[in-house]
Amino acid sequence: MSASASQTTATERKRHALALFAPLAPGYDSMGALLSFGQDPRWRRALVAAIRAGPGDHILDVATGTGMVAAALVRRYRCRVTALDQSAEMLSAARARRAGDPLLQERLQLVEGQAEQLPFADGQFDHLTFTYLLRYVDDPAKTLAELARVVRPGGRVAALEFGVPTHAGLRLLWRLHTRIGLPALGAIASPEWAQTGRFLARSIPDFYARLPLPEQLALWERSGIGITQLRRMSFGAGVLIVGVRSLHRAEGG
Ligand SMILES: C[S@@+](CC[C@H](N)C(=O)[O-])C[C@H]1O[C@@H](n2cnc3c(N)ncnc32)[C@H](O)[C@@H]1O
Repeated sequence: MSASASQTTATERKRHALALFAPLAPGYDSMGALLSFGQDPRWRRALVAAIRAGPGDHILDVATGTGMVAAALVRRYRCRVTALDQSAEMLSAARARRAGDPLLQERLQLVEGQAEQLPFADGQFDHLTFTYLLRYVDDPAKTLAELARVVRPGGRVAALEFGVPTHAGLRLLWRLHTRIGLPALGAIASPEWAQTGRFLARSIPDFYARLPLPEQLALWERSGIGITQLRRMSFGAGVLIVGVRSLHRAEGG
């Protein structure tokens, strides 16, 4: 579905996500690293390593944004990657990344679409990755089931999301960082990044209030993805979840 079509049917949450990311594409890669104090690139490397693909494999990277994870997958495994995002602006940054690298031109395909309704067949992909997606969807359970649908049985699924530290003292520091540090650091870059900093300070705790981690893991299992790894990184500020698509489809999945 095109961006304009998705805007006509979009819910408030989706409209907000489309508007939020439209101006962020140009500086996205370096701002992500800055706002996480250099931790985000390390978390992405852990995500990419968890997929353990072969060169003949075809991976779907959902909510690819500027294509950072997709490019890292191609470069590490020499596999094929299809990268999907609903934001035309973020995808143009991914297109620019691909244009500068012959290997990406050969192996990376970019698709504009929505995680909730993937334009792909059941079991079409060997593995699937998604990064910072579920906070932006209205129905994480349905979206997870849709992601699971396109992965072949035995394929790996790996996801990265911000987390909230579990240790009380660190959680306090984390709150200070997200409420004051993120908007202040963002403001150095642009008003849009300041707004994004303020948004993240609310969006991350809201997400875990709406869907605590144990419930997320249960959703993965109900979608037909058996959890194989849960890794809290940087004292819980980054959360990596890895699973394997089960041989049988989940009920209703
Ligand atoms: C925080 S960015 C993360 C981008 C990328 N995954 C990365 O490596 O940082 C979130 C991305 O998710 C995309 N997105 C949000 N909701 C989506 C949906 N329902 N379907 C597809 N893309 C979505 C946004 O357009 C944005 O590019």
